[in-house]
Amino acid sequence: MNRIPLLVANWKMNLNAGEAAKFARAFRELIAPARADLGQRFEIAIAPAYPALDRLGQALEGSGIGLAAQNVHAEPSGAFTGEISISMLEDLGCRYALIGHSERRRIFGETDLAIQAKAKRLEESPVAPILCVGETLGEREAGSTLEIVARQLDTALDGASHGLASRLVVAYEPIWAIGTGRTATPEIAQTVHAAIRKTLIARLGSIASDTRILYGGSVMPSNARELLSQSDVNGALVGGASLDPESFAKIALASLETP
Ligand code: PGA
Repeated sequence: MNRIPLLVANWKMNLNAGEAAKFARAFRELIAPARADLGQRFEIAIAPAYPALDRLGQALEGSGIGLAAQNVHAEPSGAFTGEISISMLEDLGCRYALIGHSERRRIFGETDLAIQAKAKRLEESPVAPILCVGETLGEREAGSTLEIVARQLDTALDGASHGLASRLVVAYEPIWAIGTGRTATPEIAQTVHAAIRKTLIARLGSIASDTRILYGGSVMPSNARELLSQSDVNGALVGGASLDPESFAKIALASLETP
């Protein structure tokens, strides 16, 4: 199994280009003691707001820390005001793009089918998708978590090729845990992640044994280690706690302390 933990910072609509560069300087120092492990025993990527991608990329040069985008459009170019294409992300050296984040689904009305179109386009690109799935509180209370998550995966990955499967990352982000300080217990995370892996294997084949499944939703330095110790929790997608270099460094380094 080749599932080195992946820690992704999702800055959402926070930090401008100058602040991002400042973050990078501080963060590189904090991570320096584990530099030799980066890319070997753990991987880190940061998804800033679009205007900070270029400056952050420059500030991270030679660090081994990757760049990620918070979203991308499925079409290669054209009249799509306000959107960003995959090749633009490639040009800036992005390693990953989040697709289907719950804020995109909920606030901006993105559908499973729109997310499927993005996943398909990313098959042809070096930018790997981090596909986000997760249920609302109502869906959890109704006992339909696994059904909802399986449906989101099935639709987004319909027609996915072997090429996509080998690079795909999935993030389980229960909506009730995002930005609420209410984290899923390690047991809940492991149960859903194991179900996600089963769905992925059924759809994509045994290659999905290697797919990294990240947990997201109020990950903090205080709970990271326990969450990351679960066998199917292969990293974290971190929002609020990733805005501070120290707390994101603590979370990233916690992945080295897990069995
Ligand atoms: P949070 O956000 O860590 O602030 O809960 C996670 C996310 O939305 O990716």
